[in-house]
Amino acid sequence: MTCLPASALVTSTLFVVSILIKVHHPLLKKNSNITKAQRVRFRRQLLDWYDHQGRDLPWRVKGGRQDPYKVWLSEIMLQQTTVAAVGPYYQKFLKAWPTVKRLAKADLDDVLRAWAGLGYYSRARNLHKCARFIVEEYGGSFPETEEELLALPGVGPYTAAAIAAIAFDRPTNVVDGNVERVMARTFAVGEPLPGAKVRLKECAATLVDADRPGDYAQALMDLGATICTPRTPSCLLCPVSKSCEGRKQGIAADLPKKAKKKKIPTRRAAVFWLQRANGDVLLRRRPEKGLLGGMMEVPSSAWVEQAVLTEDVLEEAPHDTVWTEHDGLVRHTFTHFHLELTLYTAHLKSKGGKVEGQWVSLVTLNDHALPTVMRKVVQHALDALGV
Ligand code: ADE
Repeated sequence: MTCLPASALVTSTLFVVSILIKVHHPLLKKNSNITKAQRVRFRRQLLDWYDHQGRDLPWRVKGGRQDPYKVWLSEIMLQQTTVAAVGPYYQKFLKAWPTVKRLAKADLDDVLRAWAGLGYYSRARNLHKCARFIVEEYGGSFPETEEELLALPGVGPYTAAAIAAIAFDRPTNVVDGNVERVMARTFAVGEPLPGAKVRLKECAATLVDADRPGDYAQALMDLGATICTPRTPSCLLCPVSKSCEGRKQGIAADLPKKAKKKKIPTRRAAVFWLQRANGDVLLRRRPEKGLLGGMMEVPSSAWVEQAVLTEDVLEEAPHDTVWTEHDGLVRHTFTHFHLELTLYTAHLKSKGGKVEGQWVSLVTLNDHALPTVMRKVVQHALDALGV
């Protein structure tokens, strides 16, 4: 199938007229030159496949509407996290907070603790904020339109479209990375990402229809996740391979093209594992604003691109004592930089006196909302000290 860019289409009045005849959904008016028959066939083949082969997922109701709270919760968790990783967290959250009203009443620290391990903690903060917002502004019922959903804390265009389709049967255009890949191949779009995003969204819009919007959106997601996979797509098993222009041209596996990645910098720091006489370890809370805002952490020096030099970083240690440097690095990658942490440990003979932070017993360490990078630090320190 082919999907022309908007600029090419407006050049021909005849062409526009023919499109207006072929296409009924408002999203489709400008951009499509696929025929209605092509659209109907693509959707029928995909939905038939989904009915039989679509994944059974804890948050999914095939052929019906799902509770918007469950859709929202799963979609927020699924941002930047795999389906397999989300499953247990989703069940845990639903058990602890079965409704949006209950979540709105929860203590933020409890929510962050339950979230620990899923990463990107701003999502958990926004989840809590959004629950409160829905209770305050909508009396605990989710709004139904894409526009209103988009105005909720932590809900971006993809999530708003997904909730509107899956929970409220709205014919939205739900496009994530998986769907972009399916579209790049189906329409043989050779332009590289991220530049091709607009074009791919236009292509996806040409296939949107008011029939079973939630199932269709999830069917596309499943196709991208299980068949139309990034490296070696299983075209022989693909229910829509006959509609795939990329396959016809023998280039499906090479699409979508990607613009060369910018290298991200590496930042480095010392991380200070300080234990007092009774074995408690020192943690501190990060500033509310910024990366990992408000989360607990093992104190560290500033995260900078220069090498870690003992004589410099010890100036930033939380206590003036004898520190031991350990081999090995704790590595973690954030969106915009890699982080390498060198571990320093010290043991005080006293109760600790005046240090900034909070002494926490090793037994209760897991109860604190520690971000993943800090859980790696804890593991590294316990290994290094043979605890
Ligand atoms: N990825 C994001 N949302 C999803 C969903 N609802 N089902 C499967 N995978 C997803």
